Amino acid sequence: MSPHHDGNDESIPDNHIFVLFGATGDLARRKVLPGLFHLAEAGLLPAKYRIIGSAPTRFAVTTEEFRRSTREAIEKFGTTKPTDATWSSFEATLSFASANSDGSGELIDAISHAEQEIGADTRRLYHLAIPPNAVIEIVRMLGSSGLNHNARVICEKPFGTDLSSARSLNAVISANFDESQIFRIDHFLGKESVDNILAFRFANELFEPIWNRRHVSYIQIDVPETLSIEGRADFFEHTGTFRDMVVTHLFQVLGFVAMDQPSSLTAGPLRDEVCRFFASIKTIDPDFVVRGQYDGYRDEPGVDPNSQTETFIALRVEVANDRWEGVPFYLRTGKCMAESRQIVTIGLHEPNAHLFPVTNDAQHRRGNMIVIDFADPGSIHTNFLAKLPGPSMFLGPAEMTFDYKDSFCAANNLEAYEHLIRECMLGNQTLFTRSDGIERLWEIATPLLDHPKPIEIYSKGSWGPKSSASVVAPHKWYLPHG
Ligand code: BG6
Repeated sequence: MSPHHDGNDESIPDNHIFVLFGATGDLARRKVLPGLFHLAEAGLLPAKYRIIGSAPTRFAVTTEEFRRSTREAIEKFGTTKPTDATWSSFEATLSFASANSDGSGELIDAISHAEQEIGADTRRLYHLAIPPNAVIEIVRMLGSSGLNHNARVICEKPFGTDLSSARSLNAVISANFDESQIFRIDHFLGKESVDNILAFRFANELFEPIWNRRHVSYIQIDVPETLSIEGRADFFEHTGTFRDMVVTHLFQVLGFVAMDQPSSLTAGPLRDEVCRFFASIKTIDPDFVVRGQYDGYRDEPGVDPNSQTETFIALRVEVANDRWEGVPFYLRTGKCMAESRQIVTIGLHEPNAHLFPVTNDAQHRRGNMIVIDFADPGSIHTNFLAKLPGPSMFLGPAEMTFDYKDSFCAANNLEAYEHLIRECMLGNQTLFTRSDGIERLWEIATPLLDHPKPIEIYSKGSWGPKSSASVVAPHKWYLPHG
């Protein structure tokens, strides 16, 4: 396969055996297998590697079936489609081996066979694309069978469902793997435009000096989604939008938006700063939370007709540190909403001196903002006010825009999972979450989990319950034109 990636970092990982638990599941089919194929195509996988799909015996398939379903998944979900030539070399790396939590199954033999083929010093990487309740048993099995040596493990989100389950999960994983081997994945941290927040803030003297309470009036992270639960009732009923999206993705994005500058972008200093920021977030006050459920959710197959699970949440969080004291952070996300967007808005204070006539309040609100659109391919808009042409000093909204797709070669993009799997193979934990950070997020969430606000029903295709406006008052939920 011909390398065509021309980014700056050309490091090639050590030889690997990649074991994908949950290989026939949705995540494996939609993201992981197409991502591995794209990495292979781009010349970013190791010189020698094997991919072993795995699942408990009752879900086992043959290697031929696994190869066939992998090709179908790549054809359906992949950005790079297989051709006969590119497929045949990738296909040869794929096999399937069953694995059960009691250690039975074919996996141990399959790994040793693959190691004989490509060399004994090969690294093992286990991707646990399985439900949270299955993780503990598999991790114990990896430890007790010695498969944890020379290995790394990717754990999926949500990492636990509350503080005590996150602590138990961390305890079991830490008993079987060293922290340097553990990669807790949050795919939002693998998105180009989320990583670009670090470049935007710390590579430019233009923005960082104003990135604090003296200049920033509020920060909004808004991730409405038009999609529904897409048949995932089993997962969603026990998870809900707060655990699925906020404790994981939105808080992690918030970490990059609000942390102090680390001394370097390596895993230690960067994650220290993110965790220091998480430590300064105040415990969530349920009075500043609105939980919604879309009309019709209870009719979805597998959903309890009296379900109290939220499919929408809006909340306000506060931070107790010198940089952000007094600045509200507004977070909103939900299913079946009017649009799909992924937006961070930094609202700046109005200047003290009122030199200009106020012509139109709505226009003024559009000025004075930095808007980061982190949906692929991503863009950044700086909204400001400019003099309207004419004899009088009237103001109008103006905008400076950076668009990823117009500025850089989009073909170099790695999808979030691809980026993170490769970072893991290289042993770089910078973009992975740390146990203390995750536990802190569950800790600040505890009052809300213990005393959830009642559900409010909202219409599909709307912006969620009307009362969510109260969370953001005196500001307004703001989304730029799509
Ligand atoms: C997943 C959530 O982690 O992220 C989904 O489980 C959500 O509910 C998805 O829709 C959003 O991710 P992306 O990459 O589509 O923005």
